[in-house]
Amino acid sequence: MNEYALRALTLLEETFGKGGDARTFFSPGRANLIGEHIDYNGGRVLPCSLSLGTYAAARRRDDGRILLVSADMPGETVSALYAELLSLPQEPGSYSRFGWGAYPLGVCAKLARAGFSSGGFEMAVTGSLPRGSGLSSSASLEILTCAVISELYGADLDGTAAARLSLEAERDCAGVNCGIMDQFVCAVGRRGEAVLLDTHTLDYEYIPFDTGDCELLIMNTRKPRRLADSKYNERRAECAEALRLINENRLSPYPSLCAIAPEEFPAAGRALPPALLRRARHAVTENARTKLAADAMRRRDMAELGRLFNASHDSLRDDYEVTGRELDSIVNAARAQEGVLGARMTGAGFGGCAIALALRGKAGDAARNIARIYHAETGYECEILEASTADAPFGGARG
Ligand code: GLA
Repeated sequence: MNEYALRALTLLEETFGKGGDARTFFSPGRANLIGEHIDYNGGRVLPCSLSLGTYAAARRRDDGRILLVSADMPGETVSALYAELLSLPQEPGSYSRFGWGAYPLGVCAKLARAGFSSGGFEMAVTGSLPRGSGLSSSASLEILTCAVISELYGADLDGTAAARLSLEAERDCAGVNCGIMDQFVCAVGRRGEAVLLDTHTLDYEYIPFDTGDCELLIMNTRKPRRLADSKYNERRAECAEALRLINENRLSPYPSLCAIAPEEFPAAGRALPPALLRRARHAVTENARTKLAADAMRRRDMAELGRLFNASHDSLRDDYEVTGRELDSIVNAARAQEGVLGARMTGAGFGGCAIALALRGKAGDAARNIARIYHAETGYECEILEASTADAPFGGARG
């Protein structure tokens, strides 16, 4: 058994006692390769599930009570009656008293309301994702809860339903208005593959993520992301407004910004003031880059993938304005290294992580130099991890 799974099991037994039929579970974190800030604009995204993630040990209880404990706060248990959750208003105010437990309890409530069988259980949680790093620890915890309920109670969930209900829990119970990318890839990701997800239709396909001579580096800026939530909502509102203005005089309105083809954009964008024009241009061009990136991965053309990483970051910096000093510094430091094919921020931005594609023999030196330059420029000690991909709970068997 993996050390984290063992830790979760020990925590379960120390907190709630030995006995019962406890099982262990894993749900990955994610890195988005490309397709940033377009999962709420009907675009295509291309994330992969990581071997860094969240672990649980869990077992059923027959009294309808849900008891939770986290390795981050070992002495404090979260407790709720399953029946109580069913009558609780689905809004952040009702869930805030549960602290971190709002995520798993929100998922329990959503599953129950959607008719998936469930009941009481005890769950101990730990994880290997660096804290606050923007690698989707909350989506990972939500999908972990889906996996636990599905296993303990035989709830007949598939990855799409798990992602949808987890997203609803995140929005309604935890109050974060994100898109569906993180929950989706944490649910259906697979080792050795990335997920090309069309966020308009929720159709998805696996793209081989065989980096060949390259490594994917995950560079954690360790910059706290306090601004992220408010700016995230601001960008969402700007995109909604841009779409409204573009559609104002159209007979057949676009369903989303990403439904606008790049060649239609110069005409469509004429309706927009300068800032909204830049936001919308990012959505349209990023959607096109994601398709090119999936094509490049199918051909194993890592040089082209690296070029697209760079173009994506530049668009997020200049048009979407979600990078900031630390992410720009670490990305520039990476790009200046021999053997680095491209680098970009990943996730919401304003801090958190960036990724770089580096030639295998050069990755170690590159990582050391990046850390040195980044520290000199920002004062932060970064953390650089070599990413490997992992199977998610609803990834299904390989064909
Ligand atoms: C966060 C959100 C995602 C997505 C990314 C940006 O991670 O949770 O839904 O919008 O930001 O691509």
